[in-house]
Amino acid sequence: MSTTIATAKEDTSKQVHPGSKLENGRFYISKYGTSVGPVSHIRQEREELLAKEWENFSVKLMSATIGGMVSGVDLREDLSDDVIAELRSALLAYKVLFFRDQPVSGEQHRAFAKRFGELEIHPFLPSTEGDPELVRFEKTPQMSGYENGWHSDVSWRETPSMAAILHGVDVPTSGGDTLFADMCAAYDGLSEKMKERIDSLHAVHDYVQAFGPAVPDDKKEEMREQYPTVLHPVVRTHPETGRKILYVNRFFVSHIEGMPEEESHELLLRLCREAEYIEYQCRFKWEKDSIAFWDNRAVQHYAASDYWPETRIVERASIIGDRPV
Ligand code: SIN
Repeated sequence: MSTTIATAKEDTSKQVHPGSKLENGRFYISKYGTSVGPVSHIRQEREELLAKEWENFSVKLMSATIGGMVSGVDLREDLSDDVIAELRSALLAYKVLFFRDQPVSGEQHRAFAKRFGELEIHPFLPSTEGDPELVRFEKTPQMSGYENGWHSDVSWRETPSMAAILHGVDVPTSGGDTLFADMCAAYDGLSEKMKERIDSLHAVHDYVQAFGPAVPDDKKEEMREQYPTVLHPVVRTHPETGRKILYVNRFFVSHIEGMPEEESHELLLRLCREAEYIEYQCRFKWEKDSIAFWDNRAVQHYAASDYWPETRIVERASIIGDRPV
């Protein structure tokens, strides 16, 4: 947007601030196909989240419609069914929950995660020694981070994880934040025309795009057989909240089914960009023994890889989900 800087000689009395008379609060910059101004469709949900109260813990909203910092629970304890049920409701509402000062052992981490469902074993990522249900992201001067792209975990599975619980074991002095994007808000913010265009489309998800290079040549065929490409709706419906979710990501989606290649590529670029709107995001700064618990159906995440060559170790337990519909 070009701004007029008033000098002593200019008459500023007729100037109208761009934010004061815009239709729906937005200002469109056609040259770049982008608009600025308040993202008004998230207002109601933000107000609802701000007004929420919980019985067994308190939650501070971290951003507009995503991210709740929980205090008042110790995840090492054998929590009552009531607390677990309330945490589940909070997860559905805030889409990602954060906890500080939770020095959980691997066993306590898994035990907490198992209160929400069966855990998955990741076929491509390294796990903690003797604990295949905990994926271990151990970044060191010799092993840099490569999770810095917006994605939803294991969307290449027929039944991608419903949620993931990540424990900060050793965190860098600065950087290494994880960012989360609310893909319900992203869908809701699309134009009606775009919604109509994509509502019945399906996308092909393929692990090979991100994990292919890590699979040894003599295992490629076996892995392909075990994990064939899968079709998921471009817009999935959350099985618990009923919300519509924009469900494509650049890590794992290869193309839109039945669409000419160029058109599919352009549409995916356009849709995947939605996760990048700051207004749909929250950003988590890790401390040792922090925990992030995200609803993998409703959000995408991005691990900033800006701390190399420092060490960053996080462990993840993932809960098996449903087939997206
Ligand atoms: C992941 O992509 O699940 C890892 C997230 C992180 O390391 O913050």
